[in-house]
Amino acid sequence: MKFFLDTANIDEIREANATGLLDGVTTNPSLIKKSGRDFFEVITEIAKEVAGPVSAETVAHDHETMLKEGLKCAKIADNIAVKVPLTIEGLKTCKALRAQGIMVNVTLCFSANQALLAAKAGATFISPFVGRHDDIGFDGMDLIQDIRTIYDNYEFNTQILVASVRHPVHIHQAALIGADVATFPADVMKKLANHPLTTNGLAAFDKDWAATGFSIL
Ligand code: E4P
Repeated sequence: MKFFLDTANIDEIREANATGLLDGVTTNPSLIKKSGRDFFEVITEIAKEVAGPVSAETVAHDHETMLKEGLKCAKIADNIAVKVPLTIEGLKTCKALRAQGIMVNVTLCFSANQALLAAKAGATFISPFVGRHDDIGFDGMDLIQDIRTIYDNYEFNTQILVASVRHPVHIHQAALIGADVATFPADVMKKLANHPLTTNGLAAFDKDWAATGFSIL
């Protein structure tokens, strides 16, 4: 499973990248706003920092303008994945960008049928939003399972990128289902490593080791 960071904060990206576990980055207009930085400046910096795919989201609603935006974003770097919304106009744009060999992440996916359309449009990534699904009383993971089944049934290559991840349980469940990628905020990455028994065990080993008086180095 690939790990993407869902942020436009370059400090968070550098810290995560230093672990060697970061495979890519996703951004959206809200995350760009939160960063307080110019869109092209921050996307360019992220694309240099991270070797893997960096999602840059288009904002137009019509195919023609969206395509122009996508082509401009794709010129920033070879590792840009253009993000388009799961609308008919977005799917048309996905198809057109993919025909030019540009990676496309189809976002704001909330149903298995939408994911089926994205795969037929040749999307590189489909981004089903699990957290926002949970928020309205549906289990977001049911959607991931359905998409996995459909994509496997027809051997689609589109990667399932689990988005709107809020906590480590989402990652655990997505990994069991066999999702290809999960994108999540920096705090979730830290929470994946944390376990109280690890912390307690380390403290006990530290105490006993200190009592031996030995040194490894
Ligand atoms: C990622 O591509 C999505 O834009 C993001 O995961 C949305 O997350 P949110 O529901 O926490 O805003």
